[in-house]
Amino acid sequence: MPAVELRDLWKAFDAVSVVQGVTLEVREGEFVALLGPSGCGKTTTLRMIAGFEVPSRGEILIRERTVAGPGRFTQPEQRNVGMVFQSYAVWPHMSVEANVAYPLKVRGVAPAERSAQARKMLELVQMPGLGDRFPHQLSGGQQQRVALARALCKEPAVLLLDEPLSNLDAQLRKEMRVEIKTLQRRLGITIVYVTHDQEEALTMADRIAVMGRGVVHQLGAPEEVFEHPADRFVAEFMGCTTFLPCEVAGPNRVRLLVGTEAPCVPCPLAMGASGRGIVALRAQDVQLASDGAQTLAGRVVFRTYRGGGFEVRVGIGEHRIPVVTSDPVEEGSLVRLAFSRLHFFPESSGASAQPDAARRWS
Ligand SMILES: Nc1ncnc2c1ncn2[C@@H]1O[C@H](COP(=O)(O)OP(=O)(O)OP(=O)(O)O)[C@@H](O)[C@H]1O
Ligand SMILES: [Mg+2]
Repeated sequence: MPAVELRDLWKAFDAVSVVQGVTLEVREGEFVALLGPSGCGKTTTLRMIAGFEVPSRGEILIRERTVAGPGRFTQPEQRNVGMVFQSYAVWPHMSVEANVAYPLKVRGVAPAERSAQARKMLELVQMPGLGDRFPHQLSGGQQQRVALARALCKEPAVLLLDEPLSNLDAQLRKEMRVEIKTLQRRLGITIVYVTHDQEEALTMADRIAVMGRGVVHQLGAPEEVFEHPADRFVAEFMGCTTFLPCEVAGPNRVRLLVGTEAPCVPCPLAMGASGRGIVALRAQDVQLASDGAQTLAGRVVFRTYRGGGFEVRVGIGEHRIPVVTSDPVEEGSLVRLAFSRLHFFPESSGASAQPDAARRWS
């Protein structure tokens, strides 16, 4: 039984569609991340699941019950969902325990029972014994744990998290990632997690829905989305920084249409791929090579130290290709580049995550 189903979900504000036909099934106990750039409709999608926004079209089911659809709308408090926001959204005038127990109070649970439940939740989020404190006596990370404990307290069918870690410092964010993931596995909670942080989605989610302009471009396991991006938009969002024009030159080979050499390089191709396109690549998939076929010559135009190695930019024609290397190559020197993993997209495939990527390609 799916925990959440979105069926052709649309949302327009002032006649502008910001969510455009999202269809998605979240399984019981699954962690699905909605990943995409700012303004692509992640929060709006989450708010529709929670019941804070009414869809313009489409249906939402929670545990097979339609909560939004033609002529139907279930209020947020009747949906059995928990939500945690980017801002901690804990009540400053209530103690930690009262914050956590609040959803149970609303449900009319007896004081002793809700207090016991709240204490259990505080233990789960690693805050035992802090129930009597007030939010101003807590760090940002602790406040966010209180919000999490409160959302978990009512044992929701699905927990919705909207960039819950983005206000925390980098170290704490990493720790909280592990904690939330551990908690989710241990309790078997279903989570829909909104983020624009690629690493967060890759490390935490069972599946990632990559969104752009209100549309899901790809839905898949982290490895799948990272290793086999469905289109240029996903490739760019998953860290590909270089896009080079090419043409198919044979089975699993492309000719790079860059510089004067136009070498043929190995590249996995979809069945029947032909004609021109682009290859997308990440800095870690380019190596400095000794002379040889299947490589491109260029000049180091920039070098910067990045801890344990260097990032260099190699200029070939109008392209500037980032390369991560332990070799301290001098700026101005001539080098050759080899490519280990390229992603091919036919000319018409996908939109670009950023307008300047389109310019880089054209
Ligand atoms: N209540 C509203 N009225 C009008 N436009 C809105 C409203 N809420 C959201 N939008 C617009 O809808 C689009 C999607 O917004 P949304 O908050 O879902 O994006 P997001 O993917 O969560 O972005 P971010 O990563 O910045 O939080 C944006 O262009 C936003 O300005
Ligand atoms: Mg948002």
